[in-house]
Amino acid sequence: MRAVDIIIKKREKQELAREEIQFFVDGFTRGEILDYQAAAWAMAVLLNGMTPRETTDLTLAMAHSGAILDLSGVVDIAVDKHSSGGVGDKTTFVVLPVAAACGLPVGKMSGRGLGFSGGTLDKIESIPGYRCDLSTEEFKQQLKEAGIVLTGQSLDLAPADGKLYALRDVTGTVQSMPLIASSIMSKKIAAGAQAIVLDVKVGLGAFMQTLDEARTLARLMMDIGKLAGREVIALLSDMNQPLGHAVGNALEVREAIDTLHGGGPLDFREHCLHVAAHMLVVGRRAADLASARRMAEEAIASGAAFEKFRLLVRAQGGDVAYVDDPEKLPRAKFVEVVTANRSGNISQVHARLVGEAAVALGAGRSRKDDQIDYAVGLVIHHKVGDFVERGQPLFTVHANDTREQAEAREAALAAFGWSEKPVAPLPLFYE
Ligand code: URA
Repeated sequence: MRAVDIIIKKREKQELAREEIQFFVDGFTRGEILDYQAAAWAMAVLLNGMTPRETTDLTLAMAHSGAILDLSGVVDIAVDKHSSGGVGDKTTFVVLPVAAACGLPVGKMSGRGLGFSGGTLDKIESIPGYRCDLSTEEFKQQLKEAGIVLTGQSLDLAPADGKLYALRDVTGTVQSMPLIASSIMSKKIAAGAQAIVLDVKVGLGAFMQTLDEARTLARLMMDIGKLAGREVIALLSDMNQPLGHAVGNALEVREAIDTLHGGGPLDFREHCLHVAAHMLVVGRRAADLASARRMAEEAIASGAAFEKFRLLVRAQGGDVAYVDDPEKLPRAKFVEVVTANRSGNISQVHARLVGEAAVALGAGRSRKDDQIDYAVGLVIHHKVGDFVERGQPLFTVHANDTREQAEAREAALAAFGWSEKPVAPLPLFYE
């Protein structure tokens, strides 16, 4: 078999056999199939799609490109959550500590930024010293002792996804249903989750733009999960506007810490409580959603969730002084509050445009080896449905370069839509 023939076959819209997918994933993992071939193949998949069978084979090949964690004997039930990617999505920093504080151990493997969508690992690395490269043994050990783990793909867990994910980010090949489904589910299967809560985002700042697409992606992932013997539930949540206010790495960590202290934006807090409650139910820590929700609220109110976050950061080598005093986190040189140049009801805060503005400031990557600027980003002060008076703060730009600051200001201004008439707020969840 030759990699080029497999690329051509997909280019010609033909269905790949299981052996061909396996050959491609194995060769890419070993470094025998090179980045440019994998990028061409990913583009062919993006343009021509995959059948559910091909997607399942790809998922299982990527999951088995490294070790599969067996967490029996480590936890009674391994529960995980994953978001399909969005703007301002710092949910993991609140949901994991809340679940762990309610007695549900959670070990999660996350990803880096992808296109306009920020990455959990990039965000948490704004805390100096935090390690995202735990080995399988370290993962298990920490899960047993601390009950909470948040790491990246180690060399021995789903390494094929780790490599492909980094390539997709910079080759315009993120927005593909089979590539997203296989990326997410291969990580979850490899990390040993028995029950998985999927947060599938839909809207302008999501990879899935319509409810139908999001539903299809959710079903595809649930089917793959079932086939691999895992229990999977999927929530379809709104990503037309950024989640919470902050978009940008350290800014988002600060907002998550505020939320763990009982503050934070209402939409973000509510979103986290809902996801955490579902995890507590599938993790058999609560009989129903209502009692799970009360447990989650109590974990925040008592400070137990914040303590779990602190424990997570310390366990992974991060400097907890930054958690105790988030003001210490990286700060941008230029901070500009942009005010509304008109009065009106906000009808849109286009999440993708905001995400792209943050990437242009340096919060994401344009090339695989680009350095992330942890300090930069945007804080959006309003939500769809708010009435804003002319002259009120609309958003704040955090920049380290004045030219980028000006560009981000214009891009973020263009993200806003206005209406003379009252506008209904957007729902948090659709299904
Ligand atoms: N999250 C992932 O882990 N992979 C994707 O492809 C998209 C979101």
